[in-house]
Amino acid sequence: METKNIRIEKATTLKPKPDPSTLEFGTLFTDHMFILDYSEELGWHDGRIVPYGPLELDPAATSFHYGQTVFEGLKAYVTENNEVLLFRPDQNVARLNRSSERIRIPKLDVDYATQAIKELVSLERDWVPKGEGTSLYIRPFIIATEAYLGVSPSKNYKFMIILSPVGAYYKEGINPVKIAVEDKYVRAVTGGTGEAKTGGNYAASLAASEIVSERGFAQVLWLDGVEKKYIEEVGSMNIFFKINGEIVTPNLHGSILPGITRDSVIQMLEHWGTPVTERRISIQEVYDAAKNGSLEEAFGTGTAAVISPIGQLTWLDEDIIINNGETGPVAKKLYESLSDIQYGRTDDTFDWTVKVD
Ligand code: COI
Repeated sequence: METKNIRIEKATTLKPKPDPSTLEFGTLFTDHMFILDYSEELGWHDGRIVPYGPLELDPAATSFHYGQTVFEGLKAYVTENNEVLLFRPDQNVARLNRSSERIRIPKLDVDYATQAIKELVSLERDWVPKGEGTSLYIRPFIIATEAYLGVSPSKNYKFMIILSPVGAYYKEGINPVKIAVEDKYVRAVTGGTGEAKTGGNYAASLAASEIVSERGFAQVLWLDGVEKKYIEEVGSMNIFFKINGEIVTPNLHGSILPGITRDSVIQMLEHWGTPVTERRISIQEVYDAAKNGSLEEAFGTGTAAVISPIGQLTWLDEDIIINNGETGPVAKKLYESLSDIQYGRTDDTFDWTVKVD
């Protein structure tokens, strides 16, 4: 599919651009959005960029009832020379297809979908905010639209891309967050949908997140769904620890999201000669390490969260304070190095950024 097939209908009135210093996460949207339809007869077709606005869908559309939806998150950054860079967009589209496969949504052509992201961002390039910690968050997603109440894969879909100028994901900004280790609810089990970026995983997280946020925690840390012993992920980020000089992160075994920032961090650390061990990590091991003084750092990684230091964990009402509640050197170096690549301040030796024309 060629992008010359993307037609553009421009908005007649444009919204005012926000002051970058006031940006929050995910509350404002740009002037245009991308839509691509799917039907059994035509496959994916009719790619178009249209003014941002509400959709009209049949109330029986299957995604409303059975959650057949997938999504992605990636970011566009503006450099000092006013170039707009995307970070590893092909990885997001590839993961969108893997998520789709899990819940039986037809796959997209990776080149076409990547091109659609670039076209939309190019049209909206004035919306990419300038300023450290700000970016244009790109949300590609697919919803099932067939009007049918039987439980089976929809015959119709919409792939859409919307854009949102954002600041930090957590109100703490780049400062360490407090995370509660969840001991009642679980997010996912091996064989379930945990490794897919599908809406239901996030719906399943809401009760736990709301309960802990009332107690001042930024989010929950999920344990495995069977024994509630092993560390999985935070929900909006993967997690890393530095224990006794070794950097460890839970291995991907089916119930953890395979984060693109996670993968980038592993590659960077390996490049610096600090290989990451991907393995099962029990929460008890982390607590034991905290008690015997060998837990040096903890941080999360994610597109929205970037690198987010973790200053405190609370499990079964017992707190551990990590690195005196301060940002550790590994998290700091990763944040700076990743940001330098994303904002084009350094050579992109990993070939991760893609310029938007
Ligand atoms: C992201 O980091 O892009 C995510 O999708 C996490 C979240 C905002 C749900």
